[in-house]
Amino acid sequence: MSVVSISDAEKFVGQSIKIRGWVSKIQSFPKHMFIEIRDGPGDKSKIQVVSKVLDIVMEQYVEVIGTVSKLPAGKRSYQSVELQLTDLIVVGTSNSDFTSRCPDGAGQEIKLSERHLYLRSRDFALVTVLRSIFLSCIRKVFSDSGSFELVPPCFVGNQCEGGATLFSLDYPATHGDEPLSAYLTQSSQFYLEMAIPAIGDCYCIYPSFRAEKSHTRRHLTEFLHAECEWKDVFDFETHLQKLRWLVKSIISEFLIAGETQLKELGAYDRVVGLSEMEIITMTHAEAIKECRSRKIYKDVETQTHFDDRDDIPEMQERALIDQIGKIVLLTKFPAEFKSFYMARDPDDPSLTLGCDVEVPGVGEVIGSGVRVYDEDELKQRLKENGLKEDEYREYIDLRRYGNARTSGMGLGVDRFLTWLLGKDSIRDIVTFPRYPGRLTP
Ligand code: 4AD
Repeated sequence: MSVVSISDAEKFVGQSIKIRGWVSKIQSFPKHMFIEIRDGPGDKSKIQVVSKVLDIVMEQYVEVIGTVSKLPAGKRSYQSVELQLTDLIVVGTSNSDFTSRCPDGAGQEIKLSERHLYLRSRDFALVTVLRSIFLSCIRKVFSDSGSFELVPPCFVGNQCEGGATLFSLDYPATHGDEPLSAYLTQSSQFYLEMAIPAIGDCYCIYPSFRAEKSHTRRHLTEFLHAECEWKDVFDFETHLQKLRWLVKSIISEFLIAGETQLKELGAYDRVVGLSEMEIITMTHAEAIKECRSRKIYKDVETQTHFDDRDDIPEMQERALIDQIGKIVLLTKFPAEFKSFYMARDPDDPSLTLGCDVEVPGVGEVIGSGVRVYDEDELKQRLKENGLKEDEYREYIDLRRYGNARTSGMGLGVDRFLTWLLGKDSIRDIVTFPRYPGRLTP
């Protein structure tokens, strides 16, 4: 007898079938018991087995043979059917302490330290599946628009996003007699830029690593980064237009592909609301004015206001976006706190053509910008940032051999999903999160 997947059981009313799965709930009565068996995520992957009293333990992996019957009138379960047990074989035993190690309503610390077990809980399994669906939606949006996926390297020899968050490591290579500096990639942007002349618009979904000191609910040391690079971006508005299209398209695809799981998780209506949320554009200068008028201070204690060219720290930025309550494309930052590769505003070269996408509740979910395309200007920026030209040889070459006037962006997959699913922390989304202090499981 071949094994039937639980979600197909309804097709076999009156017949005997064999299923395999984990014991996920036990209800005992004096003469009988209900055993819930699960063979995947989501409610359709669960079935109730009606059995005589057995010695059964939570999370055993079992093979069950039984007859499919319609649920008695008035009874409710995940399926319209249940299984009347004929035979049960324990394939994989389980210790009886599963529930005490991973209780319903466990606190955050248990959810993280027992992640390998907590992963099986109904809601977290759904989040894990939705993360998978979300990734396929991002891929679909890019590939439908003619973009190719690139697989960049993890080990790199230069920094992309500043030395403060670099992970350095020993690497078996030298330059002459000198050992080479090696890092874990902070962003795959430079590799996408390198691929543009060969394959055109391209993207990657790949981990990025940041030696973040901050223990915030939106920072990880390893995060999944969806990055892309677009050619033929001759002005800033074209770049902003692409960002608007990207944000809206990804959410629309997610609503279609994730409908069942979003509904099971109770997050569908939220995502519908977010798909309709207005997107506004605001320059850094306007954001500073907004902070002043909304009494969002640079220093709360002394009630000091921000100066025009101050970087707005995360906390105040989030407060501002929460108050605005819309998706905000924050643009034209002063050059002194943005990366060397960002193009300057032709109307005011002290500002960059960069744009961060900010959302209520989470803050920045996308970092983006138009790239410097002129070789001399790039060299000048490297110098100003204390970076060595010879470490950026290949990057400079891209300005030497047919630069296609590109812009690009990096979307924090898990931050974006934290926002869509309305979770408190990025740690509620990532299957095995990595942040300072956490390396297992
Ligand atoms: O703004 P960032 O640093 O931009 C870049 O890395 C560019 N090189 C991307 C590009 O243009 N190709 O990071 C982009 C996004 C952020 O908006 C945020 O969503 C996410 O990556 N991110 C993090 N997510 C989790 N933990 C961290 N420590 C993160 N740092 C950045």
